[in-house]
Amino acid sequence: MPTILRYSLVLVFVVGLFLLPFTKTSMSAEPPHNDENNVKCDNCHTFSNAIGPSSTKYSNDNLCYSCHVSPTGTASAKPFTSGAQAVPGVSGTSHKWSGNMPLVDNPNNAYGLRSADNLTFANGSLKKQLVKFGTCSNNVDNTSKIDCVNHGGTWTPMATCSVCHNIHNHLGNTWTPDSSPLGFTTSAVDNVTLNDSTKNWGVNQWAGGYLMFNANFASIYPTNAGLYRQITGNTATSLTVVGFPSAIPSGYPYFISKNRRFLRVTNANSEMCDDCHYYRTSTSGQTNVRTWTGNKLSHPVNVTLTVGATYNTTPLEPSTASWAAQTGTRYYGNGGTDNNSTNNMILDANNKIRCLTCHNVHYTDSDASTTDAP
Ligand code: HEC
Ligand code: HEC
Ligand code: HEC
Ligand code: HEC
Ligand code: HEC
Repeated sequence: MPTILRYSLVLVFVVGLFLLPFTKTSMSAEPPHNDENNVKCDNCHTFSNAIGPSSTKYSNDNLCYSCHVSPTGTASAKPFTSGAQAVPGVSGTSHKWSGNMPLVDNPNNAYGLRSADNLTFANGSLKKQLVKFGTCSNNVDNTSKIDCVNHGGTWTPMATCSVCHNIHNHLGNTWTPDSSPLGFTTSAVDNVTLNDSTKNWGVNQWAGGYLMFNANFASIYPTNAGLYRQITGNTATSLTVVGFPSAIPSGYPYFISKNRRFLRVTNANSEMCDDCHYYRTSTSGQTNVRTWTGNKLSHPVNVTLTVGATYNTTPLEPSTASWAAQTGTRYYGNGGTDNNSTNNMILDANNKIRCLTCHNVHYTDSDASTTDAP
């Protein structure tokens, strides 16, 4: 081995020794993946050798099932079993988490998927995960794409739980209106009160959740950075929380950790769906069903539901509930006598149809007459 290479390797090793403990201790997990729910680092990690996916106790889906299992798991309220994965037209109630991404682009892909290498959303956040989760031909080296390729294998990326979810934090905004997007405080009071005058929350809708100041923003917003406290109640524009060490300043970004789903990136307009299922989006040209090209086309998305010449301008409840008009912000509320909100078709904040207007990700049985639940 040339001397220069030998010294470089020693350097990499020494720097690695300093980096490893630093990275481990600076990483935090946000609620409900935290101590208050008896979820600790070593419930998921071994930390005996490498960090990241290769340091977890089980393979990705098995790791999640270890708590998300009925009836005994810590997260038994949100259980998963491998059989819940959907086979279109046959069975299942959940988006698949063992599906492979195509290796090459083909506009006629049956699921409208493009290749993992060409994902772009949020600086390639999903793409970066697909380099860590997948399988190597002949099981040469399943640790990562680079290790697999270095050992002469071919890497097949798999869209597993931790591709869509980042169980360490809640930075991505969700589609469902029952979670709060990232907000900014509008005035400072004390260490138990947060004010945001732009809100119109339902009284106590956030009680039991947590107010958080994300550690990622610590360099610009240092006060209480990386800390979270339980919310004891709220008015339309303020939260009352268990005391932080310092008063909550004005102009600070905050999160409410309730129903935020640990999304890796924002999915408030089905952006995650669009990144992988690119050939079902308007950008790809595939949804323009009025101009048949010979390629497979799909229902229009990113289109506003306005002029009622050929369709209703308000989504209606299904026939089991007599076609009454849905109500409320983004049509999130029920219409008529229907009490089932899991059959509602919700639009995005700009009144546009998105994937999640018709689809849902988990606990969905595709039957409009039943209420979907875990
Ligand atoms: C509920 C399970 C779970 C808990 C609890 C958990 N982790 Fe993780 N952690 C994971 C998984 C899964 C990954 C890899 C997947 C990913 O990249 O999101 C990961 C990745 C990491 C990484 C690598 C980050 C990266 O960007 O590759 C570090 C470091 C880490 N965890 C440290 C910790 C520490 C420290 C704690 C305790 C404060 C902790 N983890 C708690 C599941 C967990
Ligand atoms: C050590 C236990 C543990 C493991 C392992 C674990 N979870 Fe959880 N998770 C929990 C608990 C506890 C909750 C809260 C459940 C509840 O609402 O009652 C939760 C809730 C969630 C939620 C909902 C959060 C919200 O906003 O309401 C998501 C999403 C989630 N987990 C994803 C995952 C994924 C993905 C994995 C695997 C990478 C995983 N979890 C592994 C304990 C765990
Ligand atoms: C293709 C992406 C994707 C995959 C794969 C995926 N999820 Fe999710 N999951 C989502 C999205 C998006 C949501 C939030 C939907 C919303 O806006 O409410 C979600 C929501 C959840 C929730 C909250 C559900 C609820 O109704 O409270 C849990 C828990 C969860 N996921 C766990 C998992 C686990 C565990 C796995 C793997 C076994 C997994 N997810 C695989 C995208 C995914
Ligand atoms: C990380 C890439 C990725 C993301 C993000 C993603 N999907 Fe998928 N999707 C897949 C893969 C892979 C399959 C399975 C293909 C197969 O079985 O060969 C799939 C399958 C599906 C199916 C067929 C049923 C099933 O689960 O097999 C539907 C419907 C679907 N996705 C909708 C969505 C929606 C809606 C979103 C946004 C919430 C979404 N997908 C986000 C990769 C993704
Ligand atoms: C207007 C409602 C609607 C919208 C919007 C919609 N879908 Fe679908 N999608 C459906 C229905 C209904 C099916 C089932 C068709 C069947 O059973 O043959 C389906 C099936 C699928 C399938 C399974 C494979 C197939 O083609 O049968 C995938 C993948 C899928 N949709 C992805 C998406 C994605 C990604 C988006 C957003 C870009 C989206 N859908 C938007 C209603 C919709």
